Amino acid sequence: MIRASISDLADLLSHEVEVRGWLARMRSSGKIHFLQLRDGSGFVQGVLELNAANEDLFEAAKKLRIETSLIVRGVVKEDKRAPGGVELQLTDLDAVQVPEKDFPINKPDHGIDYLMENRHLWIRTKRQADILRIRHEILKTIRQFYDDRAFTLVDTPIITGSIGESAGNCFEIDYFDYGKAYLAQTGQLYLEAACMSLGNVYNLGPTFRAEKSKTRRHLIEFWMNEAEMAYHGHEENIGLQEELVSFIVNAVLEECPDELASVGRDLSRLQNIVPPFPRMSYSEAVRFLQKKGFSVNWGDDIGGDEETVLAEGFEKPVVIERYPASSKAFYMQPDPDDETVVLCNDMLAPEGYGEIIGASERIFEKATLVRKIEEFGLDLESYKWYLELREFGTVQHSGFGMGIERVVSWICGLEHVREAIPFARTLYRIYP
Ligand code: 4AD
Ligand code: MG
Repeated sequence: MIRASISDLADLLSHEVEVRGWLARMRSSGKIHFLQLRDGSGFVQGVLELNAANEDLFEAAKKLRIETSLIVRGVVKEDKRAPGGVELQLTDLDAVQVPEKDFPINKPDHGIDYLMENRHLWIRTKRQADILRIRHEILKTIRQFYDDRAFTLVDTPIITGSIGESAGNCFEIDYFDYGKAYLAQTGQLYLEAACMSLGNVYNLGPTFRAEKSKTRRHLIEFWMNEAEMAYHGHEENIGLQEELVSFIVNAVLEECPDELASVGRDLSRLQNIVPPFPRMSYSEAVRFLQKKGFSVNWGDDIGGDEETVLAEGFEKPVVIERYPASSKAFYMQPDPDDETVVLCNDMLAPEGYGEIIGASERIFEKATLVRKIEEFGLDLESYKWYLELREFGTVQHSGFGMGIERVVSWICGLEHVREAIPFARTLYRIYP
């Protein structure tokens, strides 16, 4: 008897195996039970036929319910029509635990609030598990991308003493005798320190924004991958982002064709994502939006609806660069050709998925940085260490941050980022 994962059964034809999993579906027709089993690696149909020797077992199987945890034994048989090409002819089964009531996720039309309230159980359903598997592939691919290029992974702190992005949406916590501390909105400032030691660095972890936005793109806790490169300017920064995003999309197409099909993704929209991506300056974007009838003026933020319109008509993500200094974070390097704008870019995903990357060259001169910190009303004292990076061998450097759930949503074609993370933290939800 071999203990096997469902995904390995195709290589075990005619063998007697044991599979440990759960009952996903069941139907019976007189003298046969058809048990659809899942074990996390896949699904397989187990067939239990009534015969002279197994009457008790056959009778007991009638009492199984959906999501019974179950250990089955049987022989692997070829079945060309089955998804994995095999089925199990069952000889024995042990129910580990039979639920006392019906599994709560049992209709095709549950409302989203109900599903989110039952997220701990909802993730057992095939579509949600497939999304989480694609997310896993994306995270794995990101690490591979940087490791292939000899970047060093640097884990940046979750609790910080200085505001990383903007004062408006910081989570504050009490930090013993030091008073206020914050949950990281970004690890960027620490990556800037690390890149002066290690050259090219990246992180991958959770970040927090106390944002009162309830859009389909915003989470309170979301995962971000950030990269920071010493001796890199604006152009090289954009080049790396284009390579990274193309690498991820192509890896998922290659490694997760079944999962993409199961979530119903139109694959033609993901093929052909290769550098270079289309580009527009912020000023061009504003003129474009004005022509489309938006009442946006130079200096205004570009919101979600505007982003959707800007990305329309492009097959690939679009890069918008050189935003007004006043509309972006304090640390961005002014454009030497026009000091009203900064050397930054956002990358907008196609099909209305919005901003997936925020990026910039960083101010490397101390005097300019001091001026910007003061202009933004931030506390100079808590940036002492950050300013010191500009006192000891400062160099041009650049980096970016990519929102994992936005990328997962785009690649899976999801309506909302809440399905792109195992347990979403949104404005109205912290349960389960
Ligand atoms: O554009 P953001 O705010 O950039 C930064 O934090 C920089 N410090 C990154 C860097 O240069 N190292 O955030 C980066 C990305 C956004 O483009 C978006 O994809 C995602 O993080 N993001 C969110 N995702 C989900 N929910 C939210 N509330 C998000 N806020 C930002
Ligand atoms: Mg941004």
